[in-house]
Amino acid sequence: MAKSEHQILSARFGRNDGHKLSVYENEGGYRALRLALDGMKPEEVRDVVKDSGLRGRGGAGFPTGVKWGFVPQDADQVYFFVNADESEPGTFKDRYLLDYDPHQTIEGTIISCFAVKADLAYIYIRGEFGWLIDRVQAAVDEAYAAGFLGKNILGSGFDLDMIVHKGAGAYICGEETGLINSVEGLKGQPRIKPPFPAVAGFLNKPTIVNNVESVASVPWILNNGSTAYKSIGTEKSCGTKLWSVSGPVKKPGVYEIPLGMPFREFYNDYLGGMADGEELKAVIVGGSSVPVLPAAEIMNVPLDYESLGQAGTMLGSGGMIIIPESSDMVELIQVLMHFYYDESCGQCTPCREGTGWLHQIVKKLRSGEGTAADLELLEHVCNGMAGLTICPLADAAVMPMRSFLDKFRPEFEALIQETAPANANSRWPRGEQE
Ligand SMILES: Cc1cc2nc3c(=O)[nH]c(=O)nc-3n(C[C@H](O)[C@H](O)[C@H](O)COP(=O)(O)O)c2cc1C
Ligand code: SF4
Repeated sequence: MAKSEHQILSARFGRNDGHKLSVYENEGGYRALRLALDGMKPEEVRDVVKDSGLRGRGGAGFPTGVKWGFVPQDADQVYFFVNADESEPGTFKDRYLLDYDPHQTIEGTIISCFAVKADLAYIYIRGEFGWLIDRVQAAVDEAYAAGFLGKNILGSGFDLDMIVHKGAGAYICGEETGLINSVEGLKGQPRIKPPFPAVAGFLNKPTIVNNVESVASVPWILNNGSTAYKSIGTEKSCGTKLWSVSGPVKKPGVYEIPLGMPFREFYNDYLGGMADGEELKAVIVGGSSVPVLPAAEIMNVPLDYESLGQAGTMLGSGGMIIIPESSDMVELIQVLMHFYYDESCGQCTPCREGTGWLHQIVKKLRSGEGTAADLELLEHVCNGMAGLTICPLADAAVMPMRSFLDKFRPEFEALIQETAPANANSRWPRGEQE
């Protein structure tokens, strides 16, 4: 695999000893924690992270230091949650971080907790990651034994406990307030915001929820300074990003590259292009919830937040799904719509009903009973969902659905023409109904 010159996050990927505390410490681990606790004030740590331009890697790209600044200064209790739910289809980078290098995330979490004055941290791990839970728990135990966790850490007077919490396998518990509810023992359903968790979260106290990759970036930023981090990437998309790449490229896997690298360069130099006999048709660049782009529209786009937004998609979680020419786009969207229908928590009508409708209509198209009117109905259902729900799961279903219809409509029409030619010109009688 081509290796990026920057290995902020991935230095120990692929090794069989990188998870051990002794190896991590030998390679400079826990130096940043000593730096923070030996003379820095929490606000100074927060300001370094804010100034670095680090943006949350869980999907929304919200600046990490700015989020930390929302915690009320006079809070008597602050909690910190590391979001390792990682259930977005196509995304598998956080499990690499936790599997190959758990101490990097643990050190980043301790520093982050110091910055926001939290004294209890949870690492919330997706329930299906059984082996990972054991690995992270073993690393947390090592950190306690070495005095990096517990009371009076490194003699600084700072106390922190860390709990590894196993999720129960629901995508919606990756949404930060669904996650908090699930740890509180409630149904894993998102809360209406505001208030945002930074003000009132776990047990109604200020709570920061950050993605694994976000906190894992913190030790390097502290060791090397915000200017060094900002010098990587682009002006507004600073640092490196992990991309988990699946699909028939020659070298799928997890890669760390500077933000702003053109897709073409990443695709050719790192992924090695398509596997023999395959042609690139399209790419879902940031996990299944973002709009799909045909090959021609992604090739020259730099992989950063702004450029991908301008190209009509989103960086999201960095779960890059490579779609070959041989893929049936209607079949693919049926799989995705089934996922969102299955994972909707059900508390908002547009999402609970809408995801079911989208799934059923696409299923109907594939059963050979579709009509041209069904394509209009899909659009109508999307219009009744987008932006109208408590959390963005409804939008996460709408964005791929709309983009598949927009960019690959001829495939939908050809399917109807082929399986039910009599239905190919039917119209949805919207005017008569309204
Ligand atoms: C349906 C849904 C699922 C989500 N799943 C995850 C997840 O698995 N991991 C994650 O870090 N963020 C996930 N998020 C985003 C979180 O709500 C939250 O924005 C993120 O954890 C904040 O961390 P960051 O600021 O470091 O990105 C999800 C959001 C939604 C709406
Ligand atoms: S949008 Fe869907 S998943 Fe999110 S809260 Fe509403 S019903 Fe639940």
